[in-house]
Amino acid sequence: GLELAPIIVAIDGPAGSGKSSVSKEAARRLGFDFLDTGAAYRALAWHALELGADTSDLDAVVSASADFDYAISLDPDQHWVRVGEADITDAIRQPRVTDAVSGVARVPEVRATLTSLFRSLATGSAKPGVIVEGRDITTVVAPDAPVRILLTASPEVRAARRSAEVTTQDAATVAAALRRRDASDSTVVDFMTAAPGVVVVDSTTLDFEQTVNAILEVVRTETGAR
Ligand code: DC
Repeated sequence: GLELAPIIVAIDGPAGSGKSSVSKEAARRLGFDFLDTGAAYRALAWHALELGADTSDLDAVVSASADFDYAISLDPDQHWVRVGEADITDAIRQPRVTDAVSGVARVPEVRATLTSLFRSLATGSAKPGVIVEGRDITTVVAPDAPVRILLTASPEVRAARRSAEVTTQDAATVAAALRRRDASDSTVVDFMTAAPGVVVVDSTTLDFEQTVNAILEVVRTETGAR
């Protein structure tokens, strides 16, 4: 039969903007797939740590990525991440992984490999669309996507949201880690400025439901979908 290419919805934003949870819920309501690209960078960081690699060493990270047997679910209702036989869905959220991930994400070979992986995962979706969420989706991974959104929030609100998620560290530690990661992430990709044609959704004063609705509204407007 006639197969239609899935509609790609590209969403970028900083840590703590609510990107992942909001994108996942929006995908559910649209009947779309959901791809958390940060989870792939985290999985590679986890794998490199598992191998005992120094994640600040470029060559060590490139070697670790050579035998990276990675799988991710695109189903927003059944989200999991695996490396080899290991289910690392929860493990990739550990602070030690969060601290190592910028080092991994900085490596150009890694970005090139993961970018082509993301493109083939997204275009291979059997659903009518895919929400692809990350830092460089609107600019590098899917610059031609019909819907491109930058989801932002003030640094204070982002730190408060992260702190509510991370129960093993106090608020000041979480806020400091977020500032460090903003600084090191932003040397790799500029995820704070909207590229031309990218719609900004500022979630600073919005709750979860309102943010999901704002995203759905942009998708409807840009695609003419109901
Ligand atoms: O969104 P997150 O916190 O799970 O992302 C984890 C890390 O991966 C983050 O430090 C930046 C990096 N990343 C990236 O460089 N490019 C992406 N498309 C997604 C994430």
